[in-house]
Amino acid sequence: MSTVLHDTPRTSTNQSSFGHARALVCRACGAEQPLGPFYACLECFGPLEVGYDFPVVTRAQIERGPKNIWRYRALLPVRDDIASIPNTEPGFTRLIKADNLARELGIKTLWVKDDSGNPTHSFKDRVVAVALAAARELGLEVLACPSTGNLANAVAAAAARAGIKSVVFIPDNLERPKILTTAVYGGTLVAVRGNYDDVNKLASEIAGEQEGWAFVNVNVRPYYAEGSKTLGFEVAEQLGWRLPGQVVIPVASGSQLTKVDKGLTELGRLGLVDQTPYKIFGAQANGCSPVATAFRSGHDVVQPVKPDTIAKSLAIGNPADGFQVVKVVKETGGTGAKVTDDEILDAINLLANTEGIFTEPAGGTTLAVARALVQRGVIKPNESVVVCITGNGYKTAEVMRDRVDQPVTIGRKLSDFERIVGPQAVSA
Ligand SMILES: Cc1ncc(COP(=O)(O)O)c(C=O)c1O
Ligand SMILES: [Zn+2]
Repeated sequence: MSTVLHDTPRTSTNQSSFGHARALVCRACGAEQPLGPFYACLECFGPLEVGYDFPVVTRAQIERGPKNIWRYRALLPVRDDIASIPNTEPGFTRLIKADNLARELGIKTLWVKDDSGNPTHSFKDRVVAVALAAARELGLEVLACPSTGNLANAVAAAAARAGIKSVVFIPDNLERPKILTTAVYGGTLVAVRGNYDDVNKLASEIAGEQEGWAFVNVNVRPYYAEGSKTLGFEVAEQLGWRLPGQVVIPVASGSQLTKVDKGLTELGRLGLVDQTPYKIFGAQANGCSPVATAFRSGHDVVQPVKPDTIAKSLAIGNPADGFQVVKVVKETGGTGAKVTDDEILDAINLLANTEGIFTEPAGGTTLAVARALVQRGVIKPNESVVVCITGNGYKTAEVMRDRVDQPVTIGRKLSDFERIVGPQAVSA
């Protein structure tokens, strides 16, 4: 397969290739460096993120855009004609008013942001789409990642659509369907004997060696992370250009949570919404809760853990953005919380039974944490709540095996059916 993205790979970058992005800015010391395949500050090794010189952006401009994340292109590090370049075109997933679930939880107004509707059925399509755009501009010819599963799907699919190679590294104990649903896109899939943190370490070493590769969540992480802002943009737009009051978001590396916050802040600064206060709550599983544990103990320092939970997509024991999650969540007045695997499975059932949405354990974690925080009086039942359901249950259906009824088996005659339900039920 051809891996050529540009006639001549670019060594220096053209600013307009990255839209209104100005530079990479260090989150720790504020130093700036040019846009490029970098993720650590040259001054202090702090994490880099994209800084912009935003133009005037109006709601009408955005509303005229395509029904995918590129409607927000003026707020992303992408070129203006990005919508015409093949990518997976994720986003604009539904935000549903979940009245049945709200009643169950004792909340007045509850919204579910159902990101399982993305092309490979998780929010990861958003971040990969922006990372792919950056890879193209930087002349990087292979799309790669270490993954807890959903990112593997998204990278392999996006590379296929872009006509480039993908190399995906996963822990060897990943759920079988997530392996199959990555392999089907035809890239190279490498299962590493170890957990995600081992895979991530190996990937970082390889990223240092393979100059032409875009490891979406390593050397192009600043661009990749910007994709998560679109989840926040959409929620605000779908609420009628209002910021949500309370938002519950799952945490693995912590990138998504911190960038949803960045997105909501930018909307306020640009005058696209009123700058009303919002609280963000971070959700983790007991078996991998470095961030939630830091909250409980009142520390800013996130101590790495060895994950052991059914929420495998959240099983990152040493989260890259853990410190930033603690900071952001505290600043908004929210908190981090954790739940047991049993509570996660209960929540998956509850969401399916009340709203017809089948989520994976990451979504179960988020809903279970929302439920626990309502019970503890931390989430206010009279202020609106948005629960971010970031992945689909069909990839991890096995976890529900002991939680569902087996079908009733009957013979082929109408009388066989009547015997189990009664003749009146049939004619009714
Ligand atoms: C479904 C799902 N939700 C949430 C997350 C957490 O994302 P982040 O690593 O940005 O915290 C992941 C990470 O893999 C995921 O797969
Ligand atoms: Zn720095």
